[in-house]
Amino acid sequence: MGSHFSYPAFVRDSAFYGPAYGLVNQLSKLTVPVDPALVWDEFNRQRHPAFEWFRKSYPPRPIIKLLIRQKMRQSHAEGITEHYDVSNDFYKIMLDKKFMFYTCADFLHEGESLEQAQTNKANAFLELLQPRAGEHILELGSGWGAMLTVISERIGDSQYLHGYTLSKEQFEHNQAEKHFNVELKNFITADYPVEKFDAIYSIGAWEHVRPNEIAPLLEKLHRALVPGGRMVKQFFCFEREEMPVSALAGQLCFPGSMLASHHFHVKAFEKAGFRIVRQTVGDYRPTIRAWFNNLVANQDAAIAAGGVRNFNRYITFASMFHRFFDDGESNLYRFQLVKR
Ligand SMILES: C[S@@+](CC[C@H](N)C(=O)[O-])C[C@H]1O[C@@H](n2cnc3c(N)ncnc32)[C@H](O)[C@@H]1O
Repeated sequence: MGSHFSYPAFVRDSAFYGPAYGLVNQLSKLTVPVDPALVWDEFNRQRHPAFEWFRKSYPPRPIIKLLIRQKMRQSHAEGITEHYDVSNDFYKIMLDKKFMFYTCADFLHEGESLEQAQTNKANAFLELLQPRAGEHILELGSGWGAMLTVISERIGDSQYLHGYTLSKEQFEHNQAEKHFNVELKNFITADYPVEKFDAIYSIGAWEHVRPNEIAPLLEKLHRALVPGGRMVKQFFCFEREEMPVSALAGQLCFPGSMLASHHFHVKAFEKAGFRIVRQTVGDYRPTIRAWFNNLVANQDAAIAAGGVRNFNRYITFASMFHRFFDDGESNLYRFQLVKR
């Protein structure tokens, strides 16, 4: 892993949090660029079954829960800043060149470009959301304004489109380049006007909502929608009820955020008064690989824009998350819901 890799620190972290956490933590601290192929292989190769068992079982579940509880003391705003306020130019290099979506794309055919796959995703969202001119539409976690742009181009207006983000750099990007009604606001703690929105959607933001925050937030969103209002959501979640060991290493990527299980989400939607109209499953792996490839192909520019440590962090995060989905611990879901 190179002369700057601290093996004692790796062993210490691994003893507390497991080997994946130890590896991510040390790689993220290196001040020389990692070898991307080596990092990818470290996370994605299949090792001896005994090691694979250990990797998925250590530390034991009660300890994981305890450690996660400590990690949840971090505020959402701090966690979002740590992940997203890296450099908008860095994200311009990593993400697709057409929209700047930082969410899973729909790769429909072998060899499709990331730009085409994100176009497929944007079209699928338009189909599910059916936005119309004059409607009040809100995006929770609007990123760099990708989907707001798509919708405004479809309906020919952006007056009633709204977005919330907790990332200062995304907010500034909107002020400088997009000019949508985007607010720097925590959508979990926000107060929402009653029956204001015809549609509310989110793409890749619901992952930041902790399990105990899901039901109260859904209740608020339900009240904020007009009768029969639409909600469309895309997010990844744990496949099983039991929290996997990888939840710990995930804290290094998304500090203070915690996934819930698929079952938990479905029950919460129904309990809050939403009818599930449609649900589909996607595959995050090709998108992650495309972001990884963009960073590798533009390594010098990425380092110039975000610094060596961020280059290393995102190469490591991509490698780790690819394995997370490959292991079947999580899946990407898209829900079309309607207010009952
Ligand atoms: C993975 S990005 C997705 C951005 C965008 N939807 C897209 O498809 O590219 C997640 C977004 O959720 C926002 N976010 C996460 N938690 C939030 C919160 N509690 N309040 C407001 N925004 C939040 C982040 O700031 C970021 O804009």
